Amino acid sequence: MSEITKEIERRRTFAIISHPDAGKTTLTEKFLLYGGAINQAGSVKGKATARHAVSDWMEIEKERGISVTSSVLQFEYGGFCINILDTPGHQDFSEDTYRTLMAADSAVMVIDGSKGVEAQTRKLFKVCVMRHIPIFTFINKMDRDAMDTFELLDDIEKELGIATCPVNWPIGSGKAFQGVYDRNSREVELFSDTQKGTRMGEVQKLSIDTGELDGILGEEARTKLDEEIELLDGAAAEFDQELVSKGELSPVFFGSALTNFGVETFLRHFLDMTTSPLPRMSDKGEIDPMTEPDFSAFVFKIQANMNKAHRDRIAFMRICSGAFTAGMSVYHVQGGKEVRLSQPQQMMASERKMIDSAYGGDIIGIFDPGIFSIGDTLTNAKDRYVYEGIPTFAPEHFARVRQMDTMKRKQFVKGINQIAQEGAIQIFQEYNTGMEEIIVGVVGVLQFDVLKYRLENEYNVEILLENLPYEHIRWIENEEIDMDRLSGTSDMKKIKDLKDRPLLLFIHEWSIRMTLERNDGLRLSEFGRS
Ligand code: G4P
Repeated sequence: MSEITKEIERRRTFAIISHPDAGKTTLTEKFLLYGGAINQAGSVKGKATARHAVSDWMEIEKERGISVTSSVLQFEYGGFCINILDTPGHQDFSEDTYRTLMAADSAVMVIDGSKGVEAQTRKLFKVCVMRHIPIFTFINKMDRDAMDTFELLDDIEKELGIATCPVNWPIGSGKAFQGVYDRNSREVELFSDTQKGTRMGEVQKLSIDTGELDGILGEEARTKLDEEIELLDGAAAEFDQELVSKGELSPVFFGSALTNFGVETFLRHFLDMTTSPLPRMSDKGEIDPMTEPDFSAFVFKIQANMNKAHRDRIAFMRICSGAFTAGMSVYHVQGGKEVRLSQPQQMMASERKMIDSAYGGDIIGIFDPGIFSIGDTLTNAKDRYVYEGIPTFAPEHFARVRQMDTMKRKQFVKGINQIAQEGAIQIFQEYNTGMEEIIVGVVGVLQFDVLKYRLENEYNVEILLENLPYEHIRWIENEEIDMDRLSGTSDMKKIKDLKDRPLLLFIHEWSIRMTLERNDGLRLSEFGRS
């Protein structure tokens, strides 16, 4: 195996997803603690200020105190080189959050044990399912009163439609939390506070078979555990690596990120069960990082105006195969020319750092003079290929855009198009009229403010946004459908994208079903093609 292939094989690139406040930041911080990337937990997030230090690139972020962008954290643990793709958890998140999942090989879903599956998790989860990537569940905050464990698993299975397989099992929760039982080793890891998780605690492991656990848990808890183990062994899905790899079975772990309990156990199991960089589909078939020696990557995110004075952009790409060295030239397939990848950066916890080399599985940010678009492929392979595009995710908020000063039409069109190209917003038109009427769709409402702010500040154009009541958008998959004869519901609106492809907007979700019933053969999709 070549040095490059060895480097790629030891990489683990995953996204961490959760509903806000479930404990994603805390868990990430603890991972870094084990990886030795930080000395003391708390360095990633020092409350309000440091928490969003990575991305204070726009006033609006600072004003609202939230992070619109996501970052990548890299650290070493147990011989693995780990890339965590952090996704912003605020409810005003953007399409970027979804796109980040396109760059990951697996996902870790953090769930608050007292709340179960929440709305945000559901949406992000759908994208993971679409990609068939392995999904791991960490049920957090077991040191607080949690829902019944069986109910929690039921909730995941019902809400997300995925089978679960508990790898360990909690013994009590809240004040009665005593630890977790490892189903494979048949040992109980006893919970001990690690000074709020600032240290890596000594974990005491006791077998349930040898008698060493007798009298330790208390009679009631022990009986309950024995009963639950019996129930579990009889009823729960068995661990099956193949199903895990296909994203059909989610291994579930319990713990408490804050007190650092169950985190290292989770990390170890997870690294064993997850995958090294996966092959990606291209127009020339699957490109496997283990056999493709040449560099290749695709752009999944563009971040604009990190420095307002220069109007610069950073294109984030996921390296799919081969190795990258700073300053190397690569062929940009969509642009049809060789480009030098300059100022390569990696986004770290609290800073951006220049890098010299990177390998398949890694994420790098490259200075973009305005030539890259989301989904673009870069490769040094002689036989050039294009990676499968990144889908367009369904916006959930829509507004009509009115331009205040009609004299500035040109700037307006340029600005709105550029912002759309970066993927922060999607633009549509009325179905029957032209460009005069623009409808903007966004995934999180904050993007409306971002759009207004950026048009004013960067393009000197003032706009008025008139909110529209639609919440659901569907792409029409079968293009031969005659739009004029389409029979919809009264709350349906026909629009088109900039490539004249028809789409439908709905106020109510049930109208989608009705429209499908009324139009034989109509196929609607929640994901569009870019
Ligand atoms: P997020 O990134 O998913 O939004 O969540 P984050 O880690 O910021 O955690 C949200 C809150 O939950 C934090 O409290 C955090 O300390 C707490 N938390 C995380 N994991 C656990 C856990 O295992 N047990 C308990 N009991 N709490 C947990 P906060 O008060 O909002 O912030 P802070 O004052 O702790 O910084």
